[in-house]
Amino acid sequence: MATATAAEAELQQRLAQLRREIEQHNYRYYILDEPQVPDAEYDRLMQALRELEAAHPEWVTSDSPTQRVGTAPADEFAEVRHRVPMLSLDNAFSADDVQGFDRRVRERLGREGPVRYSAEPKLDGLAVSVIFEHGLFVRAATRGDGTSGEDVTANVRTIRSMPLRLRGAAPALLEARGEVFMPVAGFERLNAEAAARGEKVFVNPRNAAAGSLRQLDPEVTAGRPLDIFFYGLGAQEGVDLPARHSEVLALLAQWGLRVCPQIRLVEGVEGCLEYYREIGARRASLAYQIDGVVYKVDELAAQTSLGFVARAPRWAVAHKFAAEEALTRLRDVEFQVGRTGALTPVARLEPVFVGGVTVSNATLHNMDEVQRKDVRIGDTVVVRRAGDVIPEVARVILERRPPEARSIVLPAVCPVCASVVQREGDEAVARCTGGYRCSAQRKERLRHFAARRALDIEGLGEKLVDQLVDAGLAQSPADVFSLSRQSLANLDRMGEKSADKVLRAIERAKHTTFARFLFALGIRDVGEATAANLAAHFGSLDTLMQADLQRVQQAPDVGPVIAARVVEFFADSANRDVVKRLQAAGVTWPAPTEVLAEQAPLSGLTFVLTGTLESLSREAAEDALRALGAKASGSVSSKTSYLVAGRDAGSKLRKASELGVPILDESALRQILETKRPPT
Ligand code: IVH
Repeated sequence: MATATAAEAELQQRLAQLRREIEQHNYRYYILDEPQVPDAEYDRLMQALRELEAAHPEWVTSDSPTQRVGTAPADEFAEVRHRVPMLSLDNAFSADDVQGFDRRVRERLGREGPVRYSAEPKLDGLAVSVIFEHGLFVRAATRGDGTSGEDVTANVRTIRSMPLRLRGAAPALLEARGEVFMPVAGFERLNAEAAARGEKVFVNPRNAAAGSLRQLDPEVTAGRPLDIFFYGLGAQEGVDLPARHSEVLALLAQWGLRVCPQIRLVEGVEGCLEYYREIGARRASLAYQIDGVVYKVDELAAQTSLGFVARAPRWAVAHKFAAEEALTRLRDVEFQVGRTGALTPVARLEPVFVGGVTVSNATLHNMDEVQRKDVRIGDTVVVRRAGDVIPEVARVILERRPPEARSIVLPAVCPVCASVVQREGDEAVARCTGGYRCSAQRKERLRHFAARRALDIEGLGEKLVDQLVDAGLAQSPADVFSLSRQSLANLDRMGEKSADKVLRAIERAKHTTFARFLFALGIRDVGEATAANLAAHFGSLDTLMQADLQRVQQAPDVGPVIAARVVEFFADSANRDVVKRLQAAGVTWPAPTEVLAEQAPLSGLTFVLTGTLESLSREAAEDALRALGAKASGSVSSKTSYLVAGRDAGSKLRKASELGVPILDESALRQILETKRPPT
């Protein structure tokens, strides 16, 4: 008995500890809008508490964090009681969970065949209730604890996409439910401005949205780029209710309330899972953050008969994406040397599962970022991996810093070649000054030169480049063209067959385009688009190499910084030598006269592409336009001939309409590419 009591005392201590920790996180999350830990960590603590309480129901107290959903309103805002409670959603984390949900729905409805669902992005913002009386916007409230929330009418009024009066015939009472969120572009701009003023930045768009909506001064909210999508109804009087949720959404849209354009009707669980995969793949290119998708039974009568359990409907479920943030420990930091000598601090981490993969390395970007985030070796850090982007250390949990944590110091000399490391002016990036003397830079330059979008030498990948440089067989891109079959075949994991294959690829790479050649040279800050613009503007390498700063700047989208880089590059005799040797080796491209006239029907036109295209990537579309003689630019100006707007186009589309630039959709673009004619 005595041991049971000791064990129980320990459990009770753990229970109290968990509750304290969760309360503290709740406070930071809901009251300060400044969460300390990722959601996944919070969920883990809640889960642990729920399990403990399930094993010992006699220990559940009414003030336990498990006994409420959300938080009561902060006292500064007036309290609003919801006429119809604002519910939450049950979560599904796997295809199995979704199958279970669908099976329960079909069993309860007595359906054999597939059920039709409305599949919707789960917007990562704040739920709001918005009330219109006889078409007039009268009140907006946050969800709060589901029963009552905060009156945020004045703040919601400042959201530009929020109609203050419904369009067309309006019912006596309409409560629309939706999500207030901050689009990613707006969030980034807001944070950049705050950082420039030396102010605190928001952790993520959702917290920025929460912080903005819960501003006591609506003037402040008005300056924040908030947006809103509606996804359902609350109370209503005088609404001629349709039979389906999808028709409710159409009604909302008719009244002028924004509905997320990604919402689709799908059939059965297969349709749900397909939607999940499809949205998941496009997640990073959406203009707003989502943390999963929601499936809702479309038929309203079926919704009514399914009803609710506790605080969530039986007719809907949230299918969550894998968490994009996780906690782990920073073991060490090493510095990697890039193509232009840039030293990137790379975090070596205790392996952690995040964004669907195990991550043990993450970028720290540069020393300014290290300082700004105050990262130290030994710290507990938040690692972020969103979509296919490189994992990064997002922030530090200062509260968990061990006393022995060590500062990260920029090395004075290059860790690879021991050349001096320098920072130019107030640049954030520190660079190894070794140039071609640094084997890390040589390797990266060679990799870039052979890359698919540069000279596209198949088979000349990471491992082979390492060997070529380490064995002294290729020091600069020019050496690639004098490699012998024998020297290649003698390398690790090569042999005569693979050597021949690489040699054939090298031979093929000799026939390229001027733009690819320029890009492949790896001039600092000259990306693909700039290389294409320079190539189109100058037509020949000789002309470009002889051009001075002023002339280079005349190329479209080339400012003084890039122009200086280009002039500097060709002024360096080592670079000129590489170019000469490449030409001597037989690297050629068609002269501009050969691509003129009818082969360049779009010459003189400048296109800007924005948003997501359905049928081809933006890069492919830009290449195709360039092949027809057009210029493709990254920014809209009065010189832009056409803007092609894909899905979720944002600020560029707005700017183009302001400047009166003609706007094309994807089908118009396809027509141009198919007919090889400018738009009519
Ligand atoms: S429906 C009873 N639809 O998710 C239905 N909610 O966990 C409840 N959310 O508080 C809401 N996107 O903040 C619904 N398309 C969507 C949503 C969505 C995001 C949020 C909302 C809600 C939470 C429920």
